[in-house]
Amino acid sequence: MVKQMRTIKGTHDILPENSRNWQNLEKIIHASASLSGYSEIRTPIIEEAGLFNRGIGENTDIVSKEMYSWTDRDNKTIALRPEMTASVVRSYIQHNLHNKSVLQRLYYIGPSFRRERPQKGRQRQFHQFGVEAIGSANPEQDAEVIALGWEILKKAGINNLELKLSSIGSKECRNKYKNALINFLKPHVSKLSETSKRRLGNNPLRILDTKNKNEIQIIKSAPKIEDYYTKEDQDHFDQVKIFLKSMNIPFTVDPLLVRGLDYYTQTTFEIISNDLGAQDALLGGGRYDGLIKSLGGKDTPAIGFAAGMERILMALDDTAINKKTTPTIYIVCVDKEALGSLQKLSTNLRKIGYKVLFETLRRSMRAQMRDANKYNADFAIIVGQQELVNKTIQLKNLSVGNQETIELKNVFNYFKSLTF
Ligand code: HAM
Repeated sequence: MVKQMRTIKGTHDILPENSRNWQNLEKIIHASASLSGYSEIRTPIIEEAGLFNRGIGENTDIVSKEMYSWTDRDNKTIALRPEMTASVVRSYIQHNLHNKSVLQRLYYIGPSFRRERPQKGRQRQFHQFGVEAIGSANPEQDAEVIALGWEILKKAGINNLELKLSSIGSKECRNKYKNALINFLKPHVSKLSETSKRRLGNNPLRILDTKNKNEIQIIKSAPKIEDYYTKEDQDHFDQVKIFLKSMNIPFTVDPLLVRGLDYYTQTTFEIISNDLGAQDALLGGGRYDGLIKSLGGKDTPAIGFAAGMERILMALDDTAINKKTTPTIYIVCVDKEALGSLQKLSTNLRKIGYKVLFETLRRSMRAQMRDANKYNADFAIIVGQQELVNKTIQLKNLSVGNQETIELKNVFNYFKSLTF
């Protein structure tokens, strides 16, 4: 017996029964992003690993533990992208996009890869959509980006959303805060988990994100980041909150919000769904004013987010996105002499926007009608010997159940005059 091949751990096929939900979500993303002036950018799935080491940070879990990378035949280290912000920034610098416009509003959709422990809502290949606004340091830009993420999730049909907002301040603020946090945690080191002990050395802010009960207790009396904000940090954050309020976007300030990537400055945020369980983050992002310079570009401010598409589809009430919009006609043909004229009719009906399913298996009338129901068709155009002779068709309205005879030459105009 030949061994059957299967998808590898943490990866999934998107089967035909689900692909329409994906397409609908993609449509919402394209339409909403474009209404806010964002243009699509597509970058390669593979990049030099150094881009992510430098961009996301060598000490992050994403790079140090989860990135798929290998030495290629020419001795270059290549990686599958674990996220897309670093790639977009690389592309922005490489193609001098700032010369085309001082503010670049970009969005993207595509797969990313992280070698995480697979579980519900966490895959090794997953899909993200995201936006990056590169060029403005002002708080209204933060509000625009956050509002776009919020609006797309709402349009997709997710209701139970919570926006968590924080600011991790400027680099100056964060360095002072990091030291204060390390000094606070040192006397507690014996009570910390192995992971947190390691993080104390290389990424102490991540400890704030702990799920360990003892550590949560310790963190309660830890110094707070807001006490280390500069005046500019505080002003920027206050303005973002004012803009969000004026746009009627509810949020909660969460000083313990920690993002898993090193490039953030100032505003950070996540949108979670309370219906999702442990992997509840649908969308996450923030400002990254230092990244473009650190990857070899000019000092340019930027902010963006990315959202997990599998998680969004999981959070959806199935009926919300799976709405059928295109009226569907099933052509039930039981006389092969009629195939040619019906094929022509199908082509013409598709041209005016109908979805037309054409029988190519030459099955019995009953089997074809069963299929028409299975595909949720609105109409069946039925042609048997009698209709062929009379140059007519039977038109069955499957939603209402009635049936009428129409001359074949009038069918096109009949459908053309219907409105949906
Ligand atoms: P991130 O928080 O690492 O941010 O990922 C964004 C979203 O991708 C998460 O909220 C989650 O929905 C989804 N996601 C992440 N990992 C997985 C996984 N293993 N399986 C399923 N879904 C996952 C970023 O990637 C940043 N690039 C966001 C950003 C853009 N910041 C600024 N601009």
